[in-house]
Amino acid sequence: MSESTIVLITGANSGVGYATAETIASQPGYHVILACRDISKGNQARSRLETTNLKGTLSVLQLDVEDDNSISKAVNSVSEKFGRVDVFISNAGTTSPGSTGRDRLQKIFSTNVFGAMLVSEAFIPLLLQSSRPCLIQISSALGSVGLASDPTSEHSIPPWDEYRMSKAALNMMTIQMHKRLKDQNVRVFAFCPGLVRSKLRGDSEEAVSAQGHAGDPMESGKAILDIVAGRRDEYAGKFVWKDGYYPW
Ligand SMILES: NC(=O)c1ccc[n+]([C@@H]2O[C@H](COP(=O)([O-])OP(=O)(O)OC[C@H]3O[C@@H](n4cnc5c(N)ncnc54)[C@H](OP(=O)(O)O)[C@@H]3O)[C@@H](O)[C@H]2O)c1
Repeated sequence: MSESTIVLITGANSGVGYATAETIASQPGYHVILACRDISKGNQARSRLETTNLKGTLSVLQLDVEDDNSISKAVNSVSEKFGRVDVFISNAGTTSPGSTGRDRLQKIFSTNVFGAMLVSEAFIPLLLQSSRPCLIQISSALGSVGLASDPTSEHSIPPWDEYRMSKAALNMMTIQMHKRLKDQNVRVFAFCPGLVRSKLRGDSEEAVSAQGHAGDPMESGKAILDIVAGRRDEYAGKFVWKDGYYPW
């Protein structure tokens, strides 16, 4: 197991995180830790993945990015079992469908900003035990200040203000982490998975499919595998998507 590349994915039971777990674990030489806030959803995801053509291995970890106690237990558990993390994919996120006002802002920032930052910081010491560490923040083109302020960009069209603000903050965090960690050979990326099917926007078919516009999250998973496997290393420190990179 310690020979395998150890990949931890937060929010791995659903959508982009699940598709990424499936894509990476379809390759030999990877152990994917499915980090999920609801352990029963994590175990169900693992059972589903075990019916696919797996060449890597899987484990499940309880991890709620909004709960400091859960984060610290998860770090201890991974430290004891593996002694390191080679790839940390900070994927858990929300648009907090159905909420409004202060509740909406609080939930979105609690998960997408505070959670992403605190869980990433907590796992950085284990990443630094890797001979080839990689840290990927799952962001969104909607968080690009450059695209939002460009009237010719399809990504400038409203709404999603609170979600955009959270991903803009996540992008700033990623820039800071890249500057801090690059001399320790950590490859740090922000990555936009594209508009893909998931329950991010809600549970109805209309929300899952983004009114029929959403693509297949397996395409996001393949692009993330390219980063993990080192095929996008020249873009370290950038805000990448499958076919290039975005302005911050
Ligand atoms: N889908 C898209 O079109 C799209 C586009 C751009 C960016 N993204 C980004 O992609 C990432 C994944 O989203 P998705 O589209 O795959 O949505 P999703 O299907 O709703 O998956 C989100 C995952 O995050 C988990 N999560 C939420 N809050 C958490 C917490 N406090 N602690 C731990 N896990 C938590 C969810 O767990 P539960 O199942 O327990 O709720 C779920 O596993 C997000 O960062 C999102 O912003 C998605």
